[in-house]
Amino acid sequence: MLPARAQFPEGFLFGTATSAYQIEGHAFGGAGRTHWDDFADTPGNVVRAETGARACDHYHRWPEDLDLIAGANLDAYRFSASWARVLPEGRGTPNPEGLDFYDRLVDGMVERGLKPALTLYHWELPSALADLGGWRNRDIAGWFADYTEVLMRRIGDRVWSAAPINEPWCVGWLSHFMGIHAPGLRDIRATARAMHHVLLAHGRAIEVMRGLGHRNLGAVCNLEWADPVDDSPEAAAAAARYDAIYNRWFLGAIFRKEYPALALEGLEPHMPPGWQDDMDLIGTPVDWCGLNYYTRKNLAPAPGPWPQYAEIDGPLPKTQMGWEIYPEGLEKFLLRTQAEYSRGLPIYITENGMASAEVPVVDGMVDDPERIDYLSQHLAAVQRAIAQGANVQGYFCWSMLDNYEWSLGYEKRFGLVHVDFDSLKRTPKSSYLALARALARNG
Ligand code: NOJ
Repeated sequence: MLPARAQFPEGFLFGTATSAYQIEGHAFGGAGRTHWDDFADTPGNVVRAETGARACDHYHRWPEDLDLIAGANLDAYRFSASWARVLPEGRGTPNPEGLDFYDRLVDGMVERGLKPALTLYHWELPSALADLGGWRNRDIAGWFADYTEVLMRRIGDRVWSAAPINEPWCVGWLSHFMGIHAPGLRDIRATARAMHHVLLAHGRAIEVMRGLGHRNLGAVCNLEWADPVDDSPEAAAAAARYDAIYNRWFLGAIFRKEYPALALEGLEPHMPPGWQDDMDLIGTPVDWCGLNYYTRKNLAPAPGPWPQYAEIDGPLPKTQMGWEIYPEGLEKFLLRTQAEYSRGLPIYITENGMASAEVPVVDGMVDDPERIDYLSQHLAAVQRAIAQGANVQGYFCWSMLDNYEWSLGYEKRFGLVHVDFDSLKRTPKSSYLALARALARNG
């Protein structure tokens, strides 16, 4: 059973999260092409070569979707804006229809009493900027700052919070080292540059927003608990390298103005010259720390070039993604983040949730007890961390709707609400109904 609102501190915020490319329908409304469209159109990159062209058609159905969010008694909605919808070429002339869309959307949230929690970049880089080298090009920090200014001048007066970049690890490592996300590179030099430039862009965007007078600005990093596969010192070292690259690189830069030595040992030779001079800007103070948490990884040493680790299949129960369910990792990360990085700033869990295989809609109902269980276990971990002193102030469930799970297409379903991708009909799952009950303000 899900814990009730009353079992959390007064004012604790509950929300749900989505992102633009995953739900909007990128083919609509004059949005420019993005590197995700290009990546998906290249055979072998995405399951069934599915794209975000139509997605959940949120672009047209947003009033119904906002009604659903408010109907679950949630307080906040974490959404992202698409850079190419605002600036189809990434720079230059804005798309008035795109700006109007976000204007209406934010008004729609405010009208329903939902706090708009904006992310400025959730992965769909305008193709025109990818042509110029994308995240490998240092100029991206300036392009991103300009886009931030255009969008915030239009909707910044009504957003409750803003974070520049969603999951910089995915922008840097997953996309340039592992080749799993657009632009699909597997190149250590590109990786080092992207891992640094994404942080530089973060810092510039924070600076711009502060300059415009905005408050409640944060950073959103994804974390995976790294466990050694056995008791050997080699496995411990492999897990420590994974931890440095995945969990400590971005938090370290933003909150301590430093990169972890265990990650620099492989990346330093490939870093852009003068990177040390950027650390002050990257560490421009933020107001809160957002953590996205789903799972842990088990690491073994591996031969070959750095980073010399291999992910080993673990024994715990898994979600449809094949990710082990490990709520203890969330508890440990909340405590570690506060002790080593955020140091008392509010922490929000900006994403947590699970994918589960589609079950048929029967009599207008979709039964997903496993999601209720997953959320309950993770909310209990949050409660334990709070009891130990972690300043956790909110929790956002990923995701509101079944949506486009990037390289894995539409098959992996993370939603509290089921989406029929033929008719686009929305059906709240039993997890949605359980959440609405748990969060009801009249108890
Ligand atoms: C993290 C990402 O922010 C989101 O885009 C993705 O769908 C979920 N995790 C699930 O993988």
